[in-house]
Amino acid sequence: MVLQGHVEMWRAMQERDAIYANPDATDDDYMHAAELETKFAEYGGYDAEARAGAILRDAGIDPSLHERPMREVPPGLKLRVLLAQALFSRPDVLLLDEPTNNLDIDSIRWLENVLNGYDATMIIVSHDRHFLNQVCTHMADLDYGQLKIWPGNYDDFMLAASQARAQQAALNSRAKERVLELQEFVRRFSANKSKSRQATSRLKMIDKIKIEEMKPSSRQNPYIRFEQEKKLYRQAVSVEKVGFTYPGADAPVLRDVGLEIEAGERIAIVGANGAGKTTLMRLLAGELAPTTGKVTWAENARVGYMPQDPQADFAADATLLDWLAQWRAPTDDEQILRATLGRLLFTGDESQKSVRVLSGGEKGRMMYGKLTLLRPNVMLLDEPTNHMDMETIESLQIGLEKYPGTLLFVSHDREFVGALAGRIIEVRPGGRLVDFRGSYDDYLKSQGIEV
Ligand SMILES: Nc1ncnc2c1ncn2[C@@H]1O[C@H](COP(=O)(O)OP(=O)(O)O)[C@@H](O)[C@H]1O
Ligand SMILES: [Mg+2]
Repeated sequence: MVLQGHVEMWRAMQERDAIYANPDATDDDYMHAAELETKFAEYGGYDAEARAGAILRDAGIDPSLHERPMREVPPGLKLRVLLAQALFSRPDVLLLDEPTNNLDIDSIRWLENVLNGYDATMIIVSHDRHFLNQVCTHMADLDYGQLKIWPGNYDDFMLAASQARAQQAALNSRAKERVLELQEFVRRFSANKSKSRQATSRLKMIDKIKIEEMKPSSRQNPYIRFEQEKKLYRQAVSVEKVGFTYPGADAPVLRDVGLEIEAGERIAIVGANGAGKTTLMRLLAGELAPTTGKVTWAENARVGYMPQDPQADFAADATLLDWLAQWRAPTDDEQILRATLGRLLFTGDESQKSVRVLSGGEKGRMMYGKLTLLRPNVMLLDEPTNHMDMETIESLQIGLEKYPGTLLFVSHDREFVGALAGRIIEVRPGGRLVDFRGSYDDYLKSQGIEV
């Protein structure tokens, strides 16, 4: 895979090998093979394998896998192989479209380091604020129907863009005041002969004042707030010696898991793809029964669960309004349902759309609506920012910061985890947990990782 990243070298190599393998090859063919050999050498072919091996090793791919087919590479590492391929030909320009999608938090950190250490022009599409802040030197903002380049990383851009907008608004209001003053003068004195020349010149001045049109931004932030109906005290849930094996599987996903979670805690669950985070969430949500051990919730716990893949929630053909109505409290009338949809940016006729046609991000927003109406005192959110644009992630983060209940969430969004979690649970391959009290940065430091 990696060698193929250098297309010309790869072709020369294939063509040459085909000639050597052909028993009927003519002298001309062998002449051609010699030319290809020269080309191959010019492309750095002779140390290509060693270099590809080194790139793969740096990417954390075990040497035992280097000669193996792609399908044997664990899913969490496949993207690393693709990136190694992209880097192999030493490109001057790298185009990366949502490179952090489906990457776990460790792989994202790895990618940040690789890109920061690589000297090329990079054009990156991403919704990951932490990643953008770490890697990018400029932001290209596509809004108001235009592409505008801002120097700096994402935080710099947000600050500068909002300042620029405020400044423009201030300039505009000053210009409008000036126009009003001038108009007032013209109105009072245009009939007055001695002042009519002045009035005419004021009229010309009005024409010269430009008020920059402020186009509405295409960005929209949904408004997300979660309430709890009943406050929970002390212990929220107790997990004792839980082990879990999927039916028919030979190895358990989780082994001997013990957790005590207090009401009001905010816990991030992190770990590589396939480690067992979703399995742990489903056990907590009661979707799966533990193979051994038990999960005990407080008597008054009211659990709201957002699965990683909410497909099952949207199987029935219902309108957005009817779908949401399933979770209404007796006091929630249609107006409240419509207002809830509106805050989640579903407006007007959209409430009559079928939930089946919704995109991944839209389904996610509908799940936020469900959780809003349920008013749970515990929320289990499995990758709640997946498929979401930056505005929605920011709004969700604010909603969760203000949520007074107990929160457990799985996320690969470093910014999100950093802002929300006071306790980190890492699911390690092999099914054991690391349970750390403190922020994500403190957790990384405790693991000897520089932040
Ligand atoms: N329904 C299932 N049946 C059998 N194996 C499963 C099922 N769901 C998940 N697994 C396996 O269990 C392991 C943990 O998966 P999961 O909990 O989804 O991981 P994560 O959410 O951390 O990415 C993986 O090896 C996965 O292939
Ligand atoms: Mg998962």
